[in-house]
Amino acid sequence: MALRSFSIIVAVDSQMGIGKDNNLPWRLPKEMKHFTRTTSHTTREGCQNAVIMGRKSWDAIPTKYRPLPNRLNIVLSRSLKQQPDGALLFSNLGEALAHLGTDTTRREIENVFVIGGGQLYAEALMSEYCQRVYLTRLNKCFDCDVSLLSTDAWLPQYVVSSDPNVDQELQEEKGIQYQIHVYDRQPVAAAPVAAS
Ligand SMILES: NC(=O)c1ccc[n+]([C@@H]2O[C@H](COP(=O)([O-])OP(=O)(O)OC[C@H]3O[C@@H](n4cnc5c(N)ncnc54)[C@H](OP(=O)(O)O)[C@@H]3O)[C@@H](O)[C@H]2O)c1
Repeated sequence: MALRSFSIIVAVDSQMGIGKDNNLPWRLPKEMKHFTRTTSHTTREGCQNAVIMGRKSWDAIPTKYRPLPNRLNIVLSRSLKQQPDGALLFSNLGEALAHLGTDTTRREIENVFVIGGGQLYAEALMSEYCQRVYLTRLNKCFDCDVSLLSTDAWLPQYVVSSDPNVDQELQEEKGIQYQIHVYDRQPVAAAPVAAS
């Protein structure tokens, strides 16, 4: 079964915190625009992207803003029995990636993004199907109760990269400085050819 590869997009504070009380601890409209632009951008006419999120992150989106527009919304849950309005429901990441890997969805869905939260990021960062990470690092510490998996666990598997559509210079909004980093999964080293 062909599983679809994906990117992760996430913003962290200076201590790797990502959320508080099932919400974002900060309001940074320009950084949010980066999220919307990156997860919505396609190059093929008639295509859209897919966004995969954990059930709690879906719950955190105000009802009037969900599903996230112009993207196929996918929710992962082991407890939900009914598909949320406007989203597809799967009980694990592999099932969602398999659905997105079928010939028909592959034609219709250009890029796939895992968009949170902490539980799903932890699994997704370690997945061999994660090809790219868009990591916004805020230079400020917020009061958070959910954090991103420690970089020690996953960063060694990635190399620094870039995206021409993303401003990777130091930026500032509401007095908070931040920078967007792009990492690509390290190519797997080819097995040595046995001498004959
Ligand atoms: N800073 C950022 O960029 C960013 C982005 C997104 C979210 N967030 C924040 O992150 C926080 C939420 O994160 P969280 O860790 O508490 O929750 P979460 O990962 O959003 O959702 C957790 C729930 O999703 C389901 N789930 C997760 N992984 C699954 C898997 N592999 N297979 C099946 N179901 C799976 C389970 O649902 P069931 O319990 O229904 O089984 C689980 O309880 C919020 O504060 C949110 O604002 C931050």
